[in-house]
Amino acid sequence: MKILAIESSCDETAAAVVEDGRKVLSSIIASQVEEHKIYGGVVPEIASRRHVEAVCGITDEALAQAGCKLSDIDAIAVTYAPGLIGALLVGVNFAKGLSYAGNIPLVPVHHLRSHIAASYLTYPGLEPPFLALVVSGGHSHIVNVSSYTDFKVIGKTRDDAAGEAMDKAARTVGLPYPGGVNLDRIAKGGNPKAYRFPHPHVDGSDYDFSFSGMKTAVINLVHNAEQKGEKINVPDLGASYINAVVDCLEKNTLLAADRLSSRKIVLAGGVSANSVLRERMTKACSDRGIELYMPELSLCGDNAAMVGSQGFYEFKAGNIADLSLNAVASLTIE
Ligand code: KG4
Ligand code: ZN
Repeated sequence: MKILAIESSCDETAAAVVEDGRKVLSSIIASQVEEHKIYGGVVPEIASRRHVEAVCGITDEALAQAGCKLSDIDAIAVTYAPGLIGALLVGVNFAKGLSYAGNIPLVPVHHLRSHIAASYLTYPGLEPPFLALVVSGGHSHIVNVSSYTDFKVIGKTRDDAAGEAMDKAARTVGLPYPGGVNLDRIAKGGNPKAYRFPHPHVDGSDYDFSFSGMKTAVINLVHNAEQKGEKINVPDLGASYINAVVDCLEKNTLLAADRLSSRKIVLAGGVSANSVLRERMTKACSDRGIELYMPELSLCGDNAAMVGSQGFYEFKAGNIADLSLNAVASLTIE
């Protein structure tokens, strides 16, 4: 079964053709990073307008690279939630148009579910059940995935997401957008013990996160240094900060795996590209005999191939939308 997938939840316009949920026939991504960089972050209206301009061409390219025509496509999967509403609406409406014109079933896909599915493309043998750590720009969740379409959030951030915390720290030390990847790059070789950051405990749940205190701590540290005329060692600060964020992600995820007796952990979302998170989780899981699955780097960020993968399993579970499908800015993964 061939699925044409469309993704436009943030600042990447993407289209892909995926066969039977596992084989990527094509995957095209148009990134808007260069334009949003000028503003230091994603400007929602600009994102929507660029999606409108790009979506037809990107889809044509995805079909052509897969050697397909629209009539060869068995279903159209689209990210409908969560994300920037104006951005989502472009992809949803475009997918609805294709579905209507071609009389092709329309499959709504939750963005975080698709991030988890990125690992189905990287590991052909991976199947639920497993525990997923989903860390993106807007979300930090520990999710119990009991089947391809059954998700239970067991831990989440009470305030900022891990990606947002990375981006804020990067911006505070003057690194360009997108912050997380630039912080990761500059922190290589830095001393992770040079600066100390709070490791907040969240009352009420051992699995929940809180990153706003760390974000404030990095801002205060940089401002205090500026006032005293002291120089910040950016690689050391980056390494210390990333390690503090990873301490929290690692601790809660391993505790959840231990208590739920999960022997498989899947990393998902943009922050799963972080080199420290990947290294430390690899070591921690290997020490405990837990299998760790991480999407290949090209599939960590937003892309449509992962939407095509999850779309296949949603279709098989009967999750098919009619043409009244709407975009939703905020929606649980459950
Ligand atoms: O999943 P994603 O591409 O978009 C959302 O759904 O939000 O995640 C984007 C987030 C951003 O906050 C970005 O800074 C972060 O992922 N990110 C990273 C790295 N690459 C992307 N954070 C830390 N280290 C990285 N290498
Ligand atoms: Zn994402």
